[in-house]
Amino acid sequence: MKIYRTIISFLLVAAYSVQAATYIPVTTNNTCLLLKVNDKNRLEQTYFGPKIRNVEEMRIVDQQNFAAYTTFGTNHVFEAALRAIQADGNTSTELGYMNFSVQKKNDNIIYTTISLKDEYYDLFVDIHYNAYQQEDIIEQWVEIKNKQKKSVKLTNFASSDLSFNASKYYVSHFHGDWSNEMNISEQQLTEGIKIIDSKLGVRTTQFTHPAFILSLNQQAAENSGEIIGGTLAWPGNFQFSFEVDNMDKLRVLSGANPYASEYTLEKNEIFKTPSFLFTYSNEGTGKMTRNFHWWARKYGIKNGDKERAVLLNNWEATYFDFDEAKLTKIIDDAAKMGFELFLLDDGWFGNKYPRNNDNAGLGDWETNRKKLPNGIPYLINECHKRNIKFGIWLEPEMVNPKSELYEQHPDWVIAQPFRERVEQRNQLILDLSNPKVQEFVFNVIDKVLRENPGIDYVKWDANRYVYNSGSSYLPADKQTHLFFDYAKNLMLIMEKVRRKYPDVTFMACSGGGGRIDYGSMQYFDEYWISDNNDPIQRIFTQWGAQYFFPTIGLASHVSVSPNHISGRTSPLKYRFDIAMAAKLGMDLQPSQMTEKEYKFSQNAIKTYKEIRNTVLLGDLYRILSPYGHNRTVYMYVNENKSEAIVFNFLIRKEVYPKPPTIMLQGLDANKQYMLKEINKNPDDWSRFSKYEGKKFSGEYLMTVGLHFAMYDEYESLVIQLNEVE
Ligand code: GLA
Repeated sequence: MKIYRTIISFLLVAAYSVQAATYIPVTTNNTCLLLKVNDKNRLEQTYFGPKIRNVEEMRIVDQQNFAAYTTFGTNHVFEAALRAIQADGNTSTELGYMNFSVQKKNDNIIYTTISLKDEYYDLFVDIHYNAYQQEDIIEQWVEIKNKQKKSVKLTNFASSDLSFNASKYYVSHFHGDWSNEMNISEQQLTEGIKIIDSKLGVRTTQFTHPAFILSLNQQAAENSGEIIGGTLAWPGNFQFSFEVDNMDKLRVLSGANPYASEYTLEKNEIFKTPSFLFTYSNEGTGKMTRNFHWWARKYGIKNGDKERAVLLNNWEATYFDFDEAKLTKIIDDAAKMGFELFLLDDGWFGNKYPRNNDNAGLGDWETNRKKLPNGIPYLINECHKRNIKFGIWLEPEMVNPKSELYEQHPDWVIAQPFRERVEQRNQLILDLSNPKVQEFVFNVIDKVLRENPGIDYVKWDANRYVYNSGSSYLPADKQTHLFFDYAKNLMLIMEKVRRKYPDVTFMACSGGGGRIDYGSMQYFDEYWISDNNDPIQRIFTQWGAQYFFPTIGLASHVSVSPNHISGRTSPLKYRFDIAMAAKLGMDLQPSQMTEKEYKFSQNAIKTYKEIRNTVLLGDLYRILSPYGHNRTVYMYVNENKSEAIVFNFLIRKEVYPKPPTIMLQGLDANKQYMLKEINKNPDDWSRFSKYEGKKFSGEYLMTVGLHFAMYDEYESLVIQLNEVE
């Protein structure tokens, strides 16, 4: 994923080619994916699971082998990873092994490439693996190269093809819709095929997420059992297919969605698939999550080890209805309350077609002179003089038909000729297959940042998905490249932006949680999971998001009550506690608070600043799921296990409370911890009083546990544990 300039390139003699079979182990500290070249010179998957110390033993008897990267047209009768139509029209592919190489990129990453070639045609396939040693994450991608005289057509192009043989298979995935993202559900697989995919083109994660949890033999459990977690690093259409065959074996194909995406590969052209990231855990989903979080903080999310600013966003506070005076007041209040950044949302641009609503102005990135006569620099200055940072909202890939941009370039949008141009939120999508449009989109961001030095933060939004998937730029025989090329070019623009602006913080937003994937995230510091800030909804959305994505980027905002989307009324403390369990922000005007609320908020922000390192960078342990329980509990433990923060939320009122025992996790059994309830309303009595200020060993807390009641509507309780002598 990242480019490592300091590649120390040397060949490991980790693989050995003795007489018959060549074995190629792709290993991390605790896991091994073992590949083998069989006597027909074809690549097979021999083993995937815990690390085997003596791979030599695998030779003693024949193992159960699976084709490692299946192709269509020979003797494979199930879904295939690769289907290509050769230049002469032959619809089959049969890959033979050529060679492999291993490089140690640095102390943590071992890079393996296995080169295959069609046994007859000049079609070359390289399978690449980055094995992240400490995090037990394997990243896999494939490059397909056409060296035939004419073009080859690809109709299936998976990034990965993994096989399993277990008694039962359970798959969990994440699904939902706007304001209801990241629900998790689990299903047992039966013979046949299950597909989890997105066909939305843009804002692809609105309904489903490019991630799955596969549990072998039993339903997924938090701390035990064999789990494979996989996610595709790709902001475009994705597909995971799970096929249980006649022998009850499972094949999992993961990659860009082949749906409506046949790809013509010209002579000498290379098709590079997105990266598929996966991990194996035999300690349940808890370990799987921590593997991904460790990996993400180092490699998967921009600046994953750096502190994040507590921000105030004006979106729900003002929507489009603001002017300079109103914003200056909010900035002033924000600074006084303890915020570190003010984020100006939608509505600041457009003059001929002012952006006073979502039906006009998108595409015209000039400051609206009526609302902001002194421009963005004035607001930046108002922030900086109060020692807080300034952020701005952009939606560079989109256009309202009611805009100067559309008047000038009606052919720049994704559309099919002779069909109605169907709008969503009154807008159309710019066609990123077109290099001129790519340049425009880059320039939108570049220009705003260049002309307004001092912008510290950008919220990059994308508020619709693709209908009418046609391009006036692509030739007739390459119209089906649009989905793939959009995502590929989008990532190139993101990369170019971050190369130029490495120190500006970027948030990935897409009409709520429509763009949460590791393809994008390597260029973003934060991600927005939902427009729904209702605290009960947030408990579920955050719970879902955290299976694969790290807390350091998970923005969560306190907003007004009754909530604008759900209409639910909830206490301010409850709203703060759920936002403080991630990256805290706020979406309401401090001036609309009562004095008591104001004081509480100010204190909560102060408390958050004290605990945020542990929350954002600590290890996550899930203790009680919000699914099937009235109370949900999870905790973060910092690296040296000297501090832990435990969040408890009651989701349903308990009429006759039956308090669960809360067994803490991840602590040091030999350390002593002092317990304290934090972020409490000063005049409330505490459910936690019997533990308050008392000292317990890590062993006690993890084996005897905590036991206290919570039963009123919207109760939440945050516990801080600090190591003491
Ligand atoms: C999307 C985002 C919101 C907000 C609006 C502005 O819906 O998810 O947070 O920025 O756009 O129009």
